[in-house]
Amino acid sequence: MKLGSDITAIVSGGASGLGGATSEALAARGVKVAIFDLNEAAGVAHAAKIGAKFYKCDVGNEASVDAAFAAARADLGAERVVINCAGIGIAKRITRKDKETGKIEPHDLASYARVIQVNLIGTFLMISRAAAGMQALVPITADGERGVIVNTASIAATDGQIGQVAYAASKGGVLGMTLPIARDLAQSGIRVCTILPGLFQTPLLGSLPEEARRALEASIPFPSRLGQPSEYASLACHICENSMLNGEAIRIDGSLRMAPR
Ligand SMILES: NC(=O)c1ccc[n+]([C@@H]2O[C@H](COP(=O)([O-])OP(=O)(O)OC[C@H]3O[C@@H](n4cnc5c(N)ncnc54)[C@H](O)[C@@H]3O)[C@@H](O)[C@H]2O)c1
Repeated sequence: MKLGSDITAIVSGGASGLGGATSEALAARGVKVAIFDLNEAAGVAHAAKIGAKFYKCDVGNEASVDAAFAAARADLGAERVVINCAGIGIAKRITRKDKETGKIEPHDLASYARVIQVNLIGTFLMISRAAAGMQALVPITADGERGVIVNTASIAATDGQIGQVAYAASKGGVLGMTLPIARDLAQSGIRVCTILPGLFQTPLLGSLPEEARRALEASIPFPSRLGQPSEYASLACHICENSMLNGEAIRIDGSLRMAPR
């Protein structure tokens, strides 16, 4: 589908990092962009900078997602493109030794469940709502395409490191549901792909000390540097425009295969 001023796109997590660069790239192509994000201050500022509209939304909360879809559709028209970038991470092993008592404690449920709620259930809520809306639209390409959905997993979906049990499980879930959802929606002309980023220079990694950043970069075969959010955005836009890409998971990682730690 050609990206242009006749297209409305929703970008979750579009206030920052990979989603921020993608909302910017879409807006630069003339697309009407709705940013769904929890961070109101960053979302309002980024939307103003790139000419998008901001909707406060917790992707892990069904009512919040439904309200944001309704508001964005009323303002910008029905979306043809949804890019799911909202996500969180934690670093916890499956068990830990209490420093004072020496007792082995299991991973707490609350933080595990929160990561699954935002990364996996949040992506599911965004896809299911978007798909229902897109299925009611008329096709807009000669192939009969109605819409396209791009998700963000991580290379941790396949090579999760020590301390990534919750994060890797959530991203593995996003990877695993890509093909069945693409199959569910094939007859409606709606494509679904998932990007698996390696290490990207977003606020998260950008705040690392220089030495730690260099060590990370040295672990990437080629090019040995952090990815730029604009490189992720360029792939997301390409997926939107290349109709043969469907049901696929694409790594963008400079050939990195992560070590256990
Ligand atoms: N940066 C990397 O190296 C990297 C690598 C692999 C995967 N990823 C994935 O890419 C996605 C974007 O990451 P990023 O590095 O740009 O991070 P980021 O923190 O810069 O951006 C994430 C955005 O999501 C928003 N968000 C968080 N929880 C939310 C919720 N419940 N509802 C709505 N919005 C919410 C945040 O406010 C933020 O604006 C994430 O899913 C992350 O897991 C990032």
